[in-house]
Amino acid sequence: MAVITVFNQKGGVGKTTTSLNLGAALARAGCPPLLIDLDPQAHLTLITGSAVDSGEESMFSFYLKTRPLTELIRPAGNIGRIIPSHLDLAKADTLFGKSYNVVTRLATGLSAEAMQQDRAPIVIDCCPMLGVLSLNALFACDLVLIPISTDFLALNGAAQVEKTLKALEQVLKKRLPRRYLLTRFDKRRKMTRQILAQAQEKFGDDLCTTTIAENVSVAESPALNKTIFEHAPNSRGAQDYEALLEELVGSGFFAGAEITLPHNKRTDYGRGPRLVYQAGI
Ligand SMILES: Nc1ncnc2c1ncn2[C@@H]1O[C@H](COP(=O)(O)OP(=O)(O)OP(=O)(O)O)[C@@H](O)[C@H]1O
Ligand SMILES: [Mg+2]
Repeated sequence: MAVITVFNQKGGVGKTTTSLNLGAALARAGCPPLLIDLDPQAHLTLITGSAVDSGEESMFSFYLKTRPLTELIRPAGNIGRIIPSHLDLAKADTLFGKSYNVVTRLATGLSAEAMQQDRAPIVIDCCPMLGVLSLNALFACDLVLIPISTDFLALNGAAQVEKTLKALEQVLKKRLPRRYLLTRFDKRRKMTRQILAQAQEKFGDDLCTTTIAENVSVAESPALNKTIFEHAPNSRGAQDYEALLEELVGSGFFAGAEITLPHNKRTDYGRGPRLVYQAGI
C-alpha cells in the first residue's frame, strides 16, 4: 500500500485539487484509491459528496475514540473510497497535543492488519498548517507531494516546507521522498518561466517534470462535485493530472499496485509510452 501525503503549509496552492484529481486518475487507471481527508475544512469530503453530519463518522473519532480506520471508510463517487473529515478536527491540536505517540497515530492505524490487507493506494489531503494532523500525515506516508502554485510567494513558502521535512527527517532517521509540483502554471507569463527556473534550481530532481496548467475546467469542477475527468475529460487539466500519475508511477511509487494508464496520453513530457506498470517490472 503506497501512501501519498499532499502537503504544503501554505493555503490555496492546489492540495485538495491535486488529491482529488490524482485520486481520480488512479481510479481511471483501474486502481481506485482510499482518500483520507485530514483538513477540518473538509473540502475533499464535500467535493466527493461524502459530507458527514457529525465528527463521529469522520477522522475525528479515529483520534478521539480510537475508532478503527476501516469503520470510517465510505464510498467517494467514481474515485474509490474516502475517510471523511469534519470541522471537529479543528480541535485536534488543542485536544491531543503533539507527543510522539499522537503524531504517529495515523501511521499506527494504517499498519493495522485490516488496513494492510487493503492494497489500495492512499492519498491524504492536508490542511494548510503544520499541526498535529499534518504531522500525522507526514509520519504515515511513503511520499510527500507538495503542490506549489506558480507565484513567488508560494515558491518562498515551499522553502519552509523543505525546512519542515528536514527537521522531521532527524526524528524519522531517513529521508522522506518528496516531489514538488508546480500548479496553476501559465507558460505564457514571463514570471512563470522565472519561477520554473528557480524551482528547478531549488528542488532539482525532487521537482516533478509534470506541471499542472492554470485551467478553468479544473477551477469549475469542485463546485459541480466532479473530478476533472468527469467534468472535462479532454481538458488540459485532465491531461496534466494523468501525466502526473504517469510520472509518479514511472518513478516507482505505487509499488505493488497494478496501474493501467489510458492510451490517449500527452507526448510532450519526454518519456516513451509505457502503458501497464506492475510492481517489479
Ligand atoms: N490548475 C488550476 N487551475 C485553476 N484553478 C485551480 C487550479 N488548481 C487549483 N485551482 C483553484 O485554486 C483554489 C485553491 O485550490 P485548492 O483548494 O485545491 O487549494 P488547497 O491548497 O487545498 O487550499 P487549502 O490550503 O485552503 O486547503 C481553488 O479555487 C481551486 O479550484
Ligand atoms: Mg485544501
